[in-house]
Amino acid sequence: MNAPPKTFHVKSFGCQMNVYDGDRMGELMAAQGLTATDDQFAADLVILNTCHIRERATDKVYSDIGRIRKESGKLGGNPMIAVAGCVAQAEGQEIVRRAKVDVVVGPQAYHNLPDLVARASRGEAALDTDMPVDMKFGYLPARRRVPPSAFLTVQEGCDKFCTYCVVPYTRGAEVSRPFAAIVDEAKALVDAGAKEITLLGQNVNAWDDDGKGLHDLIAALDRITGLARIRYTTSHPNDMADGLIAAHRYVGKLMPFLHLPVQSGSDRILKAMNRSHSRDGYLRLLDRVREARPDIALSGDFIVGFPGETEADFAETLSLVDAVGYAQAYSFKYSPRPGTPAATMADQIAPDVMDERLQRLQAALNRDQAAFNAASVGRRCAVLLERKGKLEGQLIGKSPWLQSVHLLGDAAIGDLVEVGIVEAGANSVMGERRNAPSLT
Ligand code: 5AD
Ligand code: SF4
Repeated sequence: MNAPPKTFHVKSFGCQMNVYDGDRMGELMAAQGLTATDDQFAADLVILNTCHIRERATDKVYSDIGRIRKESGKLGGNPMIAVAGCVAQAEGQEIVRRAKVDVVVGPQAYHNLPDLVARASRGEAALDTDMPVDMKFGYLPARRRVPPSAFLTVQEGCDKFCTYCVVPYTRGAEVSRPFAAIVDEAKALVDAGAKEITLLGQNVNAWDDDGKGLHDLIAALDRITGLARIRYTTSHPNDMADGLIAAHRYVGKLMPFLHLPVQSGSDRILKAMNRSHSRDGYLRLLDRVREARPDIALSGDFIVGFPGETEADFAETLSLVDAVGYAQAYSFKYSPRPGTPAATMADQIAPDVMDERLQRLQAALNRDQAAFNAASVGRRCAVLLERKGKLEGQLIGKSPWLQSVHLLGDAAIGDLVEVGIVEAGANSVMGERRNAPSLT
């Protein structure tokens, strides 16, 4: 039994969709009259919005639960703990057994969080991992305070079933939110202060509604006064429709950035991963994207050490990286996930081989990121300021190509300022204010 909580803290792990979900859970609890606190050890209710994508992400949840109990206990607290997100969906009752948490709620059921918290306060079981056909979004309160760069989930789930991935099991089948609901939410975000909106989905470019594709949605957002920038992530190569590629040529507010995971450069491994695209198909697609928007910054995801990956397969990945020249990218060691086909494949790769390949891949990706940043010195661009930096008077924002831009000078968070890029580092660039009459 817990007394009904008065304060809460939401901690989100993993992807940007979890950040969005975490914010919405916070709004939901605030609408119930609870107060948010930044101090995770002082809250009456701690909501851990978890990630199941790799083993280490899952382990972190259990160590976090232990730490919160211990540190809160030192302060005389005994918080109610709610586990939300993909670990909740995948492990369900197992979390209650293993970590004695009070509430377990899956990513498609969190609109029921207030009810589950009330049940837990009465000492009743509080677990909901349903995936209702009726989406949760209609049950969530309106957006109020939002950052200059806001997320908006438009699509959830995945039907692709890559053989290494838990997402189709934890987030369920691909479902798109309706066009009108998304446009309304985008307008509400802009009214609440957003200047940039990133459309989110596990397969965001698979979004559709009654014959409309993601480019139609982007065109509708382009018409919202007060919105300056549009982004979208994460895309699958097979859903990169002609209309979306063309949007990069024609839609002024669509930023020149594309995150398009490839995972491997070897056709043999891509097949074993069930990626259903080839190395060449991916490269040709990027040629078309670059033709539409020559300055586009490209990003990707990579997995090293997938079962059966030979040195020759890995060399193909390195040569693909050389061919593309990514502006930034994410790379991971393969992590077997329970219930996925790859977890039981023969020829799992030894950890030291994975470590060594990851190091070589990251060296190549870091080299290309530094080169991309160096090549942007001398460019002039708009920067959306998002937060304060560590130095006095320093502000940090994003370039159109999603680089972090550090800037000194007289401006405020939320401003879109004209900047000249004067210096490049490995992970960020330095900007100087330029005066410009108008900005978009
Ligand atoms: N092991 C390692 N990386 C994985 N990813 C997804 N599943 C796994 C796994 N089992 C990576 C992919 C994906 C990103 C979100 O996480 O690169 O694009
Ligand atoms: Fe996972 Fe593949 Fe779906 Fe991406 S496309 S979420 S990697 S199954």
